[in-house]
Amino acid sequence: MSHLSQRPESGPDSYEVGKAIPHEAAALHVTGRALYTDDLVARTKDCLHAYPVQVFVAKAKVTKLDTAPAYQVPGVVRVLTAEDVPGVNDAGVKHDEPLFPSEIRFFGHAVCYVLAESLEAARLGAAAVVVEVEPEPALIEVTDAIAAREFQGAQPTVERGDVEAGLNEAAHVFSGVFEFAGQEHFYLETHCALAHVDEAGQIFVQSSTQHPSETQEIVAHVLGKHSHEITVQCLRMGGGFGGKEMQPHGFAAVAALGAVITGRPVRLRLNRTQDLTMSGKRHGFHAEWRVGFDDAGLITGLEATLTADGGWSLDLSEPVLARALCHIDNAYWIPNIRVNGRIAKTNKTSNTAFRGFGGPQGMIVIEDILGRCAPLLGLEADELRRRNFYSEGQSTPYGQPVRHPDRIRAVWEGVHDAAELDRRRAEIAEFNAAHPHRKRAIGVTPVKFGISFNLTAFNQAGALVHVYKDGSVLINHGGTEMGQGLHTKMIQVAATTLGVPLEKVRLAPTRTDKVPNTSATAASSGADLNGGAVKNACEQIRIRLEQVAGAALGVSAADVRFVDGTAYALGREAGIAWEEVVKTAYFQRVQLFAAGYYRTEGLHWDSTTMTGSPFKYFAYGCAATEVEVDGFTGAYTTRRVDIVHDVGDSLSPLIDIGQIEGGFVQGAGWLTLEDLRWDSGDGPNRGRLSTQAASTYKLPSFSELPPEFNVILLERAHEEGAVYGSKAVGEPPLMLAFSVREALREAAAAFGPPGTSVDLGSPATPEAVWWALTEAARGHEQGQGEHGHVTDGLNGSHPEPSDPDAPERHPESEFRQYTGLSSLTRT
Ligand code: MTE
Ligand code: MOS
Repeated sequence: MSHLSQRPESGPDSYEVGKAIPHEAAALHVTGRALYTDDLVARTKDCLHAYPVQVFVAKAKVTKLDTAPAYQVPGVVRVLTAEDVPGVNDAGVKHDEPLFPSEIRFFGHAVCYVLAESLEAARLGAAAVVVEVEPEPALIEVTDAIAAREFQGAQPTVERGDVEAGLNEAAHVFSGVFEFAGQEHFYLETHCALAHVDEAGQIFVQSSTQHPSETQEIVAHVLGKHSHEITVQCLRMGGGFGGKEMQPHGFAAVAALGAVITGRPVRLRLNRTQDLTMSGKRHGFHAEWRVGFDDAGLITGLEATLTADGGWSLDLSEPVLARALCHIDNAYWIPNIRVNGRIAKTNKTSNTAFRGFGGPQGMIVIEDILGRCAPLLGLEADELRRRNFYSEGQSTPYGQPVRHPDRIRAVWEGVHDAAELDRRRAEIAEFNAAHPHRKRAIGVTPVKFGISFNLTAFNQAGALVHVYKDGSVLINHGGTEMGQGLHTKMIQVAATTLGVPLEKVRLAPTRTDKVPNTSATAASSGADLNGGAVKNACEQIRIRLEQVAGAALGVSAADVRFVDGTAYALGREAGIAWEEVVKTAYFQRVQLFAAGYYRTEGLHWDSTTMTGSPFKYFAYGCAATEVEVDGFTGAYTTRRVDIVHDVGDSLSPLIDIGQIEGGFVQGAGWLTLEDLRWDSGDGPNRGRLSTQAASTYKLPSFSELPPEFNVILLERAHEEGAVYGSKAVGEPPLMLAFSVREALREAAAAFGPPGTSVDLGSPATPEAVWWALTEAARGHEQGQGEHGHVTDGLNGSHPEPSDPDAPERHPESEFRQYTGLSSLTRT
């Protein structure tokens, strides 16, 4: 057991990590007392309100910008334009995102901002600004950009083995095209920043940001100032989900610029429509693939090209794409593989991080392949998946050994047992036989997700811990709180390391002047990184206090243990109270505060060759989902979900279970309900986001929750490489929702003859499911299941005479594109 992962030997009842406690701010959240950035406006005197001037055309040159009419509107104080920028007019780190653009790159792009005494005056002022444009042809669909060869950024390839040989030796080769949708973050709190300048010119920006240090850097470069002149604070976010990793910077910069120019506090909060039309989303992807299987159903080779829909600028598209390429294997051994990646440049909002950060977009491709090919191989999808799992000694396509592959089997078997799959599948077979117009099915899918930032430098963190003379403890760390429970975990870590009860520890809001140069709270690594840093700071203090207590107890410092607020000498009953030790330390002039630091050891990644060991470890999980589909409408319900998930030795089980449930539901939303639609017609609304409200963009709600939802944390799952033996939990559970999609596929297939391969759009809305089951049922009417033939492959594609023992196959017509979203063809 490593020093980092080891828990105190005094036993789990005596320390705070691992205890099932509620979120540290739960009471504030549910009573409405929790403060978010915009709540501070009411407490800020003389605050100005900023409002964007959006231009509603997908692509154009700005030929005229006349702000004078805005100044006629009572209450308007100032219009901010490009001329006002003292530093760099750019909101990103790639320098491809002008903050005040002279060219419109997506429908709703903001060209300038109006500052006014009230929000209403700012809105009217923005409406009065005159913008004239010269429209240009716009690329909306990812396929438009592919056809126009409009790409941006790097085009990496992950490659291992000999993919041609792998496909040549295959007994069965299939190929297909699959286009799947992005996702709106729909955090409850929209983007928001509040800035003011103090008497010495120090700029203080409160921002709803997952990456305060980068917000600070962008504000500094826009203002032409140094980082030490800017402080960014994030109290908490009402959800971030990756949408506030890169996107808040420009909004914070506008507020800060307004504050510098007017000398007054400036607030910029997007309303929901602005947030939906201006901020980036999960990348939708286009994927083309060719896969080979041997006679046992083992994958022999996979060749794929993934094209991410990047939107108008790069933002985080390159690392998102890299993670997609690094996750196309999911839990499966693919000996020969070549995956090419590229980023389409389209005239849409700039797509960005979203829970899973490209991982889901890679994994959906292999899960779709397995779900579609299993019937063609004459195997149950479960069986095909299981046969291809990684085993000991194998490594990923980018060369990282897969540690603990036995855990894939452990979670898989755990789900099969917990969900009683054998019994329920037998019941479902009876149900389906008795119900021609309703079908049930269970989908089971695994998750393997790499933890750490691909970019090695981001895997560091800092903390600042103060012990005051009265023994109370205040901790700061570099991570932000967005509802995921990071602060709760950090309090538990600090209390455990110092050996004090939870109540002794308080956590202060995240600020760049307390802990500098932080990484985004992202990649699920918040607890690993900041937990390491908090633990390190607390250890420095504890070691000093062990000296003080040892002297008082008359034993060596090495024989002192702090347990639950008391310093004991090993083997003795009586001890000295924590407060007493702290007071003594103060009078002995012993330092009672410390800066902590942590860097993840053992990582390396070469982004040019796309090889290395970028991840500290993998998080594993497995889900089984039962659905029921109505044959007349395609409408469906999720009847039951069972999950076994690996969080290592949990730091905070209630938090972790909440993350698993929330992640799963958010993933199910992406895969089944949330249908982003962009106007791709040639009218004046070309490029407009049609789903720009909760009325047209369907989010999962209570009514979609499964009535039975069981989450089990994998036991005996200690992780050597992370703080107190835990594993990251934020993102991996989202991908457990593939089980919903695969269940829908199998239920649709049940409307057809045995062995029907179902092509399912993503999102699998009731409409998409209806198309899929209708196509499956058509196979039934034509009796193709009984007369299917085995054909595939590079090795001759003529249908052979029907063989009663062979798995059923479907003729070419089964695979033609009908949903407009995906198609499967044999080569
Ligand atoms: N949970 C809640 N409630 N709200 C969020 O915004 N973001 C997710 C996940 N869980 C999020 C969440 C994302 S995208 C990430 S990367 C992680 O939390 C970040 O936090 P962590 O690193 O502390 O897990
Ligand atoms: Mo999460 S997408 O890494 O913020």
